[in-house]
Amino acid sequence: MSWKSRCRWDAAIVFVLVLAIQEISASSRVGAVISRLRKKSDPDMIPIGKEGGPLDVSLALNFINIASVDEARGEVEILAWQVMSWRNKDLAWWPPEFLNVTSVSIHPKYLWTPDITIFNNARAMEEITPPIATVDSDGTVTLLPSLRIRVLCNLSDMTLNGIREEEITICDVRMGSWTYSADILTLAEPESRNLGTSSYFQGSQFDLLDVQAKKNVFHYSCCAEPYEDLKFFFTFSRKPRVQAWFGDDGLLNEKSRAYV
Ligand SMILES: *[C@@H]1O[C@H](CO)[C@@H](O)[C@H](O)[C@H]1NC(C)=O
Ligand SMILES: *[C@@H]1O[C@H](CO)[C@@H](O)[C@H](O)[C@H]1NC(C)=O
Repeated sequence: MSWKSRCRWDAAIVFVLVLAIQEISASSRVGAVISRLRKKSDPDMIPIGKEGGPLDVSLALNFINIASVDEARGEVEILAWQVMSWRNKDLAWWPPEFLNVTSVSIHPKYLWTPDITIFNNARAMEEITPPIATVDSDGTVTLLPSLRIRVLCNLSDMTLNGIREEEITICDVRMGSWTYSADILTLAEPESRNLGTSSYFQGSQFDLLDVQAKKNVFHYSCCAEPYEDLKFFFTFSRKPRVQAWFGDDGLLNEKSRAYV
C-alpha cells in the first residue's frame, strides 16, 4: 500500500469515528431532556390550562382513505391521520441549559394523554403507527397516530341499491373526551372549518369531496357542567368504474379512452 492510499484510509477511518461520536452525542443530548421528562411527568395528572382554566386540546383529522363502505351494517371504514396537541407547561425546559435541544420524541406512556374517543365508532379503533409523542421545549405535546376507524353512518338510502357511482354521501366522525367535562378539558375551535383533502389517497375506490369540522357544546341530563365534541363531516362518492367499451370497429370508444 502506498503512503498516499494509506493516508486516504486513515482519513476515512477518522471520518467514520467522527460520525459515530456525533451519533452518540446526539442521543445523550436528548437523553438529559428525556430523563427529566420521565421524572417530572405524571401520566395520571391532567395539566392545568391557561390561567388555571381548562386544558386546551387541539384535534384534527386528515383523511387518508375511505377503505370500504358496508351498506347493510351502516359502517364506513376510514384510514385517517389524527393530530392531537396540548401544552403542559410543567414539562417545559430552557434549551440553553440542555445543549440547545428544542424537541424530543418519547413513548406516550410517560405522559398524560387525553382520553379522546370516537363516539360513533362501530368497532374498536386501531392504531396503525407505533405510539410516539413529541414534546417541545415550551411544553407542547403532539401525538400523530394513524388510525383505522369504522364509524356508523346512516346509509339507509343505499341499503337497497348500494352506493351508486357519483352519488354523494355525507357521514361524520364524532370525537371528544370520554370522561372530562369542558370545565377541565376544552377542545380548541378548529383552525378552519374546511380541513381540505390534500392527504387523501388518489387511488381510492371513493372520492373524498369535502371535510368540514364543527365544534359542539352540550349537556347531559345528569349533570350541570358542559361537554364538548368535534364533528368531522366528510362528503364522498364512489368513483366510476373503469370499463372498456369497444365500438364496431374494434377500437376503444371516446368514453373509454378518457379512462385509459
Ligand atoms: C447553543 O446555541 C447558542 C446560540 O446559538 C450557542 O452560542 C451555543 O454555543 C450553543 N450551545 C451548544 C452546546 O451547542
Ligand atoms: C336516515 O336517512 C333516511 C333517508 O335520508 C331518513 O329518512 C332517516 O330518518 C334517517 N335515519 C336516522 C336515524 O337519522
